[in-house]
Amino acid sequence: MRELVAVLDFGSQYAQLISRRIRECGVYCEILPHDISCADMSALAPKAIVLSGGPASVLEEGHPGIDPGIFKLGIPVLGICYGLQLLADILGGKLERGVAREYGPASIDIDSSGGLFDGLHHRLDVWMSHGDHVSTPPKGFSILAHTRSCAVAAMGDGTRKIYGVQFHPEVVHTPKGIDILKNFLFGIAGCSGGWTMRGFIEESIKNIKAQVGSARVICGMSGGVDSAVVAALINKAIGSQMTAIFVDNGVLRGGEPAEIRKTFTEIYPLNLDIVDAGDKFLDALKGVTEPEEKRKIIGRTFIDVFYNEAERIGGADYLAQGTLYPDVIESRSAKGGPSVTIKSHHNVGGLPEDLKFTLIEPLKELFKDEVRVLGKELGLPDSILKRQPFPGPGLAVRILGEVTRDNVKILQEADQRVQEEMIGYDAYKDVWQSFAVLLPVKSVGVMGDERTYANVIAIRAVHSMDGMTADWVKLPYDLLARISTRIINEVKGVNRVVYDISSKPPSTIEWE
Ligand code: XMP
Repeated sequence: MRELVAVLDFGSQYAQLISRRIRECGVYCEILPHDISCADMSALAPKAIVLSGGPASVLEEGHPGIDPGIFKLGIPVLGICYGLQLLADILGGKLERGVAREYGPASIDIDSSGGLFDGLHHRLDVWMSHGDHVSTPPKGFSILAHTRSCAVAAMGDGTRKIYGVQFHPEVVHTPKGIDILKNFLFGIAGCSGGWTMRGFIEESIKNIKAQVGSARVICGMSGGVDSAVVAALINKAIGSQMTAIFVDNGVLRGGEPAEIRKTFTEIYPLNLDIVDAGDKFLDALKGVTEPEEKRKIIGRTFIDVFYNEAERIGGADYLAQGTLYPDVIESRSAKGGPSVTIKSHHNVGGLPEDLKFTLIEPLKELFKDEVRVLGKELGLPDSILKRQPFPGPGLAVRILGEVTRDNVKILQEADQRVQEEMIGYDAYKDVWQSFAVLLPVKSVGVMGDERTYANVIAIRAVHSMDGMTADWVKLPYDLLARISTRIINEVKGVNRVVYDISSKPPSTIEWE
């Protein structure tokens, strides 16, 4: 039988990272709402349960809880940060409110080797992010590690196989975090591993077939990696029962529709429908400058187009989308947990309340690099898989201020120069995204003997692992110079180019 680890989500920005790390260990994993009942959990029979962190405080009224019966199922549990505090509280330990929030790097001293810390050095660098802490572990638990300011950095009850860590083993800033997770999964919970992306494909195909039966599915295809992988996956499951719909929304990269047609008719043929809806989108965006409003309008217009197309092909019950985890977490918290909206990613936050389709989002728990591995398994060409991410709302969120046909043309032309020059950069493959942004300001310049008063283009290039955090790329000056010269000389209406040197956080990758 398939081996499952359940991650209960308490609203942490890191909940999916935990599940991703578990998958990296070769163990299948699902994220479940924190309030799942003990009976439902028991029916799933996971090999282990991980309680995520979360922004709430166990010491405050109304904090997200857990069915206490879950601790009596005999299934090994690992609580992380909030998860540790919650299990300590429920099982009879004591918590204290921190005087100051401990946030950032720390080093823990291991008090008990073996178990969670098997094979690890007695002092480890970890990443802490918490306000409250456990002051007295529950009965039956021993302290496994401490820091100078945190007496219970890790605790465990070997008999009940219940463990907790105050730090975050899932983040890269805890270098031995993956070893700690492996010790829990394999050493303590007895998982056997061996799960791969092939397993994910088989699982998804089975689920998709069971879910849709003989109904028709339309798949919103943006030309990006995510939606292409979803289309390929659903195509593998149900073939021509799915129609992939590529909408030319008028804010695409230049030449995009032709490239998509070529890829999905000649290289990786599937049931494709290309809809020219540029006017509809640009008309809807007329006069709109507020980023969230733009995103919502685009989301709604996509759905309108999908309704029309569904009708044209004789009806469809399901809409498949390439929603990824970062789209979900930044639009709303996964599984309804309590985290804030950063941006409404169009395929999540822009959906109408009364959507007439049932959504299929098979990649919702994956990160971009996992999706690329999945796409490779599905046989998609590198021309699609190696593409940089492109936001669903397209150039509309890279044109600050009003989106007009003229602005789109300027940005498409500037962006094309960025792409052409970036491809020649020797570290191009390490760049997560590189693109142009059209700013809503004009500046004075001089061309020939003439004064100009024209647009400013910002160049953005970032390194990122998963889109959740990002650093600006230290591009070589001569490359920046070439990009700038070409844009100013070749793109009518631009007389100044600047380089964006901000990281995420506190900035975001897209400007809107
Ligand atoms: P931000 O700007 O939030 O972007 O730092 C993180 C990553 O997500 C992409 N992005 C989107 N992708 N729909 C998408 O499919 C969207 O609405 C959307 N907005 C941003 C962005 O390009 C970056 O890779």
